[in-house]
Amino acid sequence: MSKQRDQWGSSLGFVLAAAGSAVGLGNLWKFPYIAWDNNGGAFVLVYLVCIALIGLPIMMAEILIGRRTQSSPVPAFGALHEQTGTSKRWSVVGWIGVLAGVSILCFYAVIAGWSLSSFAQCLNWSINGYTPPEDGAFGAFIGNTGLQFMLALMFSGVTAFIVMRGISRGIEKATKILMPVLLLILVVLAINALTMKGIGQTLSFLFVPRLNELTTHGVLEALGHAFFTLSLGMGAMITYGSYMKKAESITKASVAIVVLDTAIALIACIIMYTILFSFPESQDQISASTAGMLFTTMPHMFYSKMAGGAILGPIFYILVAFAALSSTISLLEVSVALLVDRFSMTRVKATLAAAGSIFALTICVIFSLNSGFAVSRFKLFGTADSGLGYRLNEIFFKNKQGFMDFFDHLASNWLLPVGGLLITVYVGWFLNKKVSLDELGLQDENGNVHPFFKVFHFVLRYIAPLAILYIIYSVIFGAEDFT
Ligand code: TRP
Repeated sequence: MSKQRDQWGSSLGFVLAAAGSAVGLGNLWKFPYIAWDNNGGAFVLVYLVCIALIGLPIMMAEILIGRRTQSSPVPAFGALHEQTGTSKRWSVVGWIGVLAGVSILCFYAVIAGWSLSSFAQCLNWSINGYTPPEDGAFGAFIGNTGLQFMLALMFSGVTAFIVMRGISRGIEKATKILMPVLLLILVVLAINALTMKGIGQTLSFLFVPRLNELTTHGVLEALGHAFFTLSLGMGAMITYGSYMKKAESITKASVAIVVLDTAIALIACIIMYTILFSFPESQDQISASTAGMLFTTMPHMFYSKMAGGAILGPIFYILVAFAALSSTISLLEVSVALLVDRFSMTRVKATLAAAGSIFALTICVIFSLNSGFAVSRFKLFGTADSGLGYRLNEIFFKNKQGFMDFFDHLASNWLLPVGGLLITVYVGWFLNKKVSLDELGLQDENGNVHPFFKVFHFVLRYIAPLAILYIIYSVIFGAEDFT
């Protein structure tokens, strides 16, 4: 490589940026509602096991590929072909990753935009007083195409601006501000939660495993979410790892990222559930749409119920916006890095090209949120009620309609699991073990291999691939419940 590749300025910089990628709407929006839907306790336990047993090793595998090759996912496998003789065809992993990144970003930017409007709404209530919303206000909000366009455009614009500035001057600098602010806000809200009367019930809901409440569906959801929340399966961590200096420990950094991500997801639950348990009547409201918990129930809880809510409300949505921003940055960076590394574009051009094309898809997502437009009924294999197209829609997309569900389902149920599977199989079975050992630094001078490495390698060879195959199998054939 002729010119010096940009690098993280410090190992803290890398950990914060990677944790920033991991911590996002997955932690603050999705985890609290799926943990609620699955009755906490046992689900949370399974989730923790998935994170530690499968998430952590795959995180390490991705980072080590990136650091070893100093390149983004597609060229990385070309470099490994030259260094170790594995097939060039593995670069398909990189292409799947880029596709996944594009699919996630185009709808993620829309949801991230909602945090801006919740923030504005809270601020308005703080200043002008709280007015309870009318029924169907949220539906009207997401169907307001012009507003959705502006919100997503703002979010995508800021993301592109930061990515355009590069690694150390852009992404690292931004996440070094975003992440500490985010942690601080989280701590303030968590301390507040500890003083509320619902805290006891919250902790027992979350941490007392009632194993009889566990369902197969819950196990699958926990496993799938472990990928999404840690930003795995699409080479985001390969890309971030490629800017990492050789002297730093991949193992320590990975543990730090995983611990931060998990802690933040749990704290988010504590913050939200204490409010729900302190005011039991609010639970009726959320049961209608747990997915909307963060954007529909929570703002009203802050204002109608909570002391200090007028201050904590707006702050909470700044937190959500910051968390989402450090994730959209990593989603965009994967495509930008590809254009820069593989097609030799300048970073500025690459960012404009990638962000522009992805925003075109975002516009499709926005139109499909309004039931007045035909695209809201979009299905990949056509809208017929029977026949081959119908069957294919059913198998591949559970017959979901509209672009938001399409891209979400495509990425979460297909691209991320398949990408993750290929990565574990590659590092577990094809990549020379010496390469992993060397990158992870888990061998002492006498050649003794650290037991942690043995566990790591065993998981990548057997456990992780089987777990992922199980996800893919159930996506296709449906999950039978144990009970
Ligand atoms: N992990 C992020 C979240 O929890 C989302 C995300 C960012 C992501 N980059 C990713 C998911 C890469 C999968 C792959 O919100």
